[in-house]
Amino acid sequence: MSESDVTQLQPKEPSIGRLVVVGLGLIGGSFAKGMRESGQCSEVVGVDLDAASRRLAVQNGVVDRCEVDLRAACEGADVIQLAVPILAMERVLAELAGFDLGQAVLTDVGSAKGNVLRAARKAFAGKSVRLVPGHPIAGSERSGVEAANAELFRRHKVILTPCEQSDEAALALVAELWHVLGADVELMEVEHHDQVLAATSHLPHLLAFTLVDSLAKRSENLEIFRYAAGGFRDFTRIAGSDPVMWHDIFLANREAVLRTLDVFRDDLDALRDAVDAGDGHQLLGVFTRARAAREHFSKILARRAYVDAMHSTDLIFLAKPGGSISGRIRVPGDKSISHRSIMLGSLAEGTTEVEGFLEGEDALATIQAFRDMGVVIEGPHNGRVTVHGVGLNGLKAPAGPLYMGNSGTSMRLLSGLLAAQPFDTVLTGDASLSKRPMNRVAKPLREMGAVIETGPEGRPPLQIKGGQFLTGMHYQMPMASAQVKSCLLLAGLYASGTTSVTEPAPTRDHTERMLRGFGCPVQVEGSTASVEAGHKLSATRIEVPADISSAAFFLVAASIAKNSELLLEHVGINPTRTGVIDILKLMGGDITLENQREVGGEPVADIRVRSAKLKGIDIPEDLVPLAIDEFPVLFVAAACAEGRTVLRGAEELRVKESDRIQVMADGLQTLGIKAEPTPDGIVIDGGVLGGGEVWAHGDHRIAMSFSVASLRATAPIRIHDCANVATSFPNFLALAAEVGIRVAEEGNA
Ligand code: S3P
Repeated sequence: MSESDVTQLQPKEPSIGRLVVVGLGLIGGSFAKGMRESGQCSEVVGVDLDAASRRLAVQNGVVDRCEVDLRAACEGADVIQLAVPILAMERVLAELAGFDLGQAVLTDVGSAKGNVLRAARKAFAGKSVRLVPGHPIAGSERSGVEAANAELFRRHKVILTPCEQSDEAALALVAELWHVLGADVELMEVEHHDQVLAATSHLPHLLAFTLVDSLAKRSENLEIFRYAAGGFRDFTRIAGSDPVMWHDIFLANREAVLRTLDVFRDDLDALRDAVDAGDGHQLLGVFTRARAAREHFSKILARRAYVDAMHSTDLIFLAKPGGSISGRIRVPGDKSISHRSIMLGSLAEGTTEVEGFLEGEDALATIQAFRDMGVVIEGPHNGRVTVHGVGLNGLKAPAGPLYMGNSGTSMRLLSGLLAAQPFDTVLTGDASLSKRPMNRVAKPLREMGAVIETGPEGRPPLQIKGGQFLTGMHYQMPMASAQVKSCLLLAGLYASGTTSVTEPAPTRDHTERMLRGFGCPVQVEGSTASVEAGHKLSATRIEVPADISSAAFFLVAASIAKNSELLLEHVGINPTRTGVIDILKLMGGDITLENQREVGGEPVADIRVRSAKLKGIDIPEDLVPLAIDEFPVLFVAAACAEGRTVLRGAEELRVKESDRIQVMADGLQTLGIKAEPTPDGIVIDGGVLGGGEVWAHGDHRIAMSFSVASLRATAPIRIHDCANVATSFPNFLALAAEVGIRVAEEGNA
């Protein structure tokens, strides 16, 4: 931090008068020291029973002065921070209740909140007090005032649990103090706080203490400790924590700890029974779910670390201008097929092996949802996934809402499947998914007898009531949507009679193909697909081809960049997906399909693409559904083409992960291209691409499209909000760099 930053943080006038900190241990000392250094208080007074701590606190500049007598210290105080051991709170609160505290705000740092509140209510019965209970989630293996660290709370969470004695001004004041120390303040109900902490902190400490004690008591303990390898060491690190403090915490948070412990004991018993019975399936289920959950948490924590480093959630791609493309690459597995492999594999009888699975966040959300419904899924590991199917009627009720992240495909397809289950479910998603239309699936499913509630204006979350009897029907789909078609076909696996869907234009048919691969007959006549209930699915092997939607970025890249030639290996060329190739060829693209073959019911080819002089075209409307995900990058091709490109009949693009017509038009205009949005398409005049700042709006395909645009730009393009590239193409930057696109995370170039 520069000197001018420091002076900026220091207010000219202290905003608080006297701060009293009672208890000068690590937490109290660090709070006092941080506040004193901030210059926000005219005076910081410490109180501690221990003379050495008082002396050190003054010597080390933790406080301005110390008092032994609580009453003397608190006279004229504006804020009193209680940082005494949790079991001493009751005594200190009772003492404080005997003083005239005036308008002073009382707050604390106790690890359990229910007992502090009970003690405060008892002590101040009938008297008014301004109280804001709090708990900083921070600590250190060091203890005592000598370890006081003004930075201890920076970027740590502090939970405040306001109660009936917390007036608004008092709450704002305490929150402000923590903000000054760099902490992130969150509010919680007292009971919720105690329950969450019992599970995330208190139970693990209890387990670590008992494990070490239990092993240490045994006669062969020397052997055990001598050979204790990493597992024992890692698991029991926290058994080195302060025994007195933890004894206090368990006594203070007794009820919540007991509730958590009882649930855990049941789970432990179930695991013991599984070991006893040799039930490997049960063990694998627990272990795979735990491993996935652990990875999920690590990612959340890592993202937080990233936020810490960057002070923002905005992942920026910086694309340098120019370059040409060469090489041979295989882009990751097809997203649509990956989703379906998990869904059908889970509903099948037997074990389905998947290869080439897309390890992107969208497909992982589908895996997580089925794990949450009791399906044992191993992997993904290098694209291999093993799904232990539970049969059409084997799913179990999930413990909570199923979180679909950014994935519209997961939410829409699952809604059909879940409408027919005997249990209730709630489907939620991230900010982008929460804005996307769901009535397109909810409405026809209701006609089949499903009970589904959406959020306002037909948006997520979806609340699906289980135990309904679905009746097959014929549905004339108003829009060309493979997601709606697939949703209804999946519901049709459970509905009486026949369920058929007629589409206004051909859409991707992976569901139909894969259902057949699992042995379930699907009739397709013209534009109508039908299924009947009563056919079980049998496990199979699935090889997922590379995703043509991901390949599309490189098809355009090698077309627009000079002196380029690229081979894209093993790409799925299902005719319901190849609109991008047809459109690029109509624009003059030089693309050839080599080594065409069929793999597991899907056509596949290696695609060779070379630089070409593209020209603007009127895009035939019948190609729109066949290239629906590729338009953002096709707009880049249009911007690099000679003449005008016109797209019509593509209003669906406005309800994808972002409004892709508007967002691309905005970005292209920023780069100096004439791009005029229309209600159902866009008109783009090819021209010279400049550089500039554009926004992906959290839409993976927009971020990657503007990265490709840099190949023909005259200056760098800075692309904001790119984190969601990981939903469909986690290694995009690596492959882009390998073939010659000069794009990288800002700061990592
Ligand atoms: C998908 C269908 C398409 C597509 C999406 C994946 C699928 O959506 O945009 O990325 O896997 O069925 P719509 O069917 O809603 O057009």
